[in-house]
Amino acid sequence: MPAAAAELAPLQYALNKPTPKIQTMSHDNLDDEIICPCSGTRRGQIRACFLQGLDADAISRKTGALSGCGGCEWDIGEYLRSLVAEAAPDKPAH
Ligand code: FES
Repeated sequence: MPAAAAELAPLQYALNKPTPKIQTMSHDNLDDEIICPCSGTRRGQIRACFLQGLDADAISRKTGALSGCGGCEWDIGEYLRSLVAEAAPDKPAH
């Protein structure tokens, strides 16, 4: 995880602002996007955990995401909802 991202996440949480999406070197590969700066968890790790059948709590325990400032909670929740919608396109993602 970039050092600046680790320092930035708690400050943004303290200011009650959403954490910006931080891209890595590969801007066109969303799997490489760091979705939780506190833990350095990438979007692809979240998707891999989801495909293993893990829920948000298990993903948090496995990756460390959602266990720091909490600034990634909305982004990870939305991402998991989109993965659920993709997995079951006939059902609403609520
Ligand atoms: S960004 Fe702080 S816990 Fe995920």
